[in-house]
Amino acid sequence: MATAEDKMREFLRRQIDPREFDAPAFQKDPFPLYKRLRDDHPVYHDRFHNRWVVSRYWDVDSVFQSSEAYTRGIYEEDGPYEFGSKHVFGPNILEYGVGDRHRWLRNIIAGQFVGQKLNDFLPVIDMIARELIARLGTGSDGKGGFELVTEFSTQFPIRVISNMLGLPREDEDRFVDWYQALIAGLGFGGEHLARGIAARNEMWEYLEPLIEKRRKEPGEDLLSRIIAAELDGKRMSMEEIKGFVALLLAAGGDTTDKAIANMWYHMLYTRPDQFAAVQKDPELWSNVFTEMMRYDPVVHMQQRRATQEIAMHDEVIPKGAIVLIYLGAGNRDERVFKDPDTFDIFRDDLHMGRENRSGRYKDGKPGHLGFGMGQHFCMGYAMARQEAVIACTHLSNALVNPRPKVEDHPGISSPSIDSGGFRSPQELWIEFDRKAEGW
Ligand code: HEM
Repeated sequence: MATAEDKMREFLRRQIDPREFDAPAFQKDPFPLYKRLRDDHPVYHDRFHNRWVVSRYWDVDSVFQSSEAYTRGIYEEDGPYEFGSKHVFGPNILEYGVGDRHRWLRNIIAGQFVGQKLNDFLPVIDMIARELIARLGTGSDGKGGFELVTEFSTQFPIRVISNMLGLPREDEDRFVDWYQALIAGLGFGGEHLARGIAARNEMWEYLEPLIEKRRKEPGEDLLSRIIAAELDGKRMSMEEIKGFVALLLAAGGDTTDKAIANMWYHMLYTRPDQFAAVQKDPELWSNVFTEMMRYDPVVHMQQRRATQEIAMHDEVIPKGAIVLIYLGAGNRDERVFKDPDTFDIFRDDLHMGRENRSGRYKDGKPGHLGFGMGQHFCMGYAMARQEAVIACTHLSNALVNPRPKVEDHPGISSPSIDSGGFRSPQELWIEFDRKAEGW
C-alpha cells in the first residue's frame, strides 16, 4: 500500500512549474512536458503566465471547433484595440475572431489555394523548384553538399506565393529578406520586432506603386483579386491590402519552408529505413508530409480567449481567460495514436490524405492537428502539401544518394532568431554524389 510519503512524492512528481515553459529544455524538446500535461493536467492553469493550457487531442479539437466559446480575435468593434496597430504585419485577417469581415477576407483568397486554381498553378510551383535545384551544386559548401535551409527551403515557398500574388520575379530576393525579418519580428520582441516593422515599412513602400498600378490595370493575379474584392460596396484600404500581402508572404512562406526541412530531417536522421522506401516510391512523400505534421509539426501552439465560462475535465476556465492550444501535444496523444512517439509514414491510425477544417474523415481515422481546425483552419493547407511534396519529390529525384553530411545533428528546435517560435532544424547539410541525368 502506498505510504503517505509515496503519495507526497507522487503528488510532487505531478506538479508542473510554469517556468518550465520558458526553459531551454522545453524549446529543444517539449514532448516530455506535453506528456505530463496530458496525463496529469489535461487542463492546466498556469497562474504564473496567467493562462490555461489544453493538450489532449480531443480537447484541442474541441477548442478549435468551438467559435462560440473561444475567439482568436484581438480586435473587437467595441473594444479598446485599434485594428492593425500592434501587429507586425499591419492590419490583417489574423486579428479578427469570427464574423462577416473574417469570412469575407477568407473568401477573397480561399479559391486560389485549392481545386482547379491550385492545379493551374502547379506548373509554376514545379518551375520554381526546378530552378532552385539547378542552382544547387556539389561543392557549394566547399566540401560537396549543400545546406537545405538557406539554399532551398527558405527560398522556395516565398517565391511561389510572391509569384501567385503577381509580384515581379526579379525582386524575389528582396521578398525572401523581408519575410524573414517579418517572421523574426512576429516571434520575438525588442530589436527583432523593430527590425520586423522596419522590413514591413520598406516592403509597404515598395508595394504601394504596384498596388496603384494594379488598381488601374488589374491582372489575373491574387493581388488584383485582393484589390478588387468588395464587401457592402466597399473595398479594402491601402493599409489593409498591404497587411494582407504581408500576412500571405509570411504565412505562405515561413511555414512551408520549415515543413520541407522537417520532412528531410526525419527522413535523413530519424527514419533512414523509410527514406529508402520513399526514394523507391516518391508518392510516399505525401505520407511523409502527413506524419511530419503529426509527429513534429511546424506550428505547435495557437492561442484563444474564452468568451464564456468553460468546464473541462475538473477545471473551470473563466470567461476572458487566455487559452493555449498545444496541438503539438495533442498530436502525440497516446489515447488516439499507437506509439505516438514513433515517426512512421506507414501508420494505419492516421488519416493520410488531404485535410479539412472539420477534421472528420470518411476513413474514420483521426487527422493531424497541424493546420488547426474550424473557423481559422489553415487556408493554404492544400497548397502547402502540394509545394512540400513537389519540392521533396524533385529533390530526391535530382540528388543521387542524398545523405546527412553531419552525423550529430542538434535536431529540430524552437524558438530561434529566424523561426518566430516555429519548430524546424536551423541547418540541414546534405551530401550527394551527383545530380541525376536531366537535372
Ligand atoms: C505547412 C505549412 C503550413 C502550416 C503548418 C500552417 C499552419 C496554420 C495553422 C495552425 C493555422 C491556424 C491558426 C489558428 O487556428 O489560429 C493557419 C492559418 C492560416 N494559414 Fe496556414 N499553414 C501553412 C501554410 C500556409 C500557406 C501556404 C498559406 C497561404 C498561402 C497559409 C495561410 C493561412 C491563413 C491565411 C491562415 C488564417 C486563416 C484564418 O484566420 O481564417 N498557410 N495555418
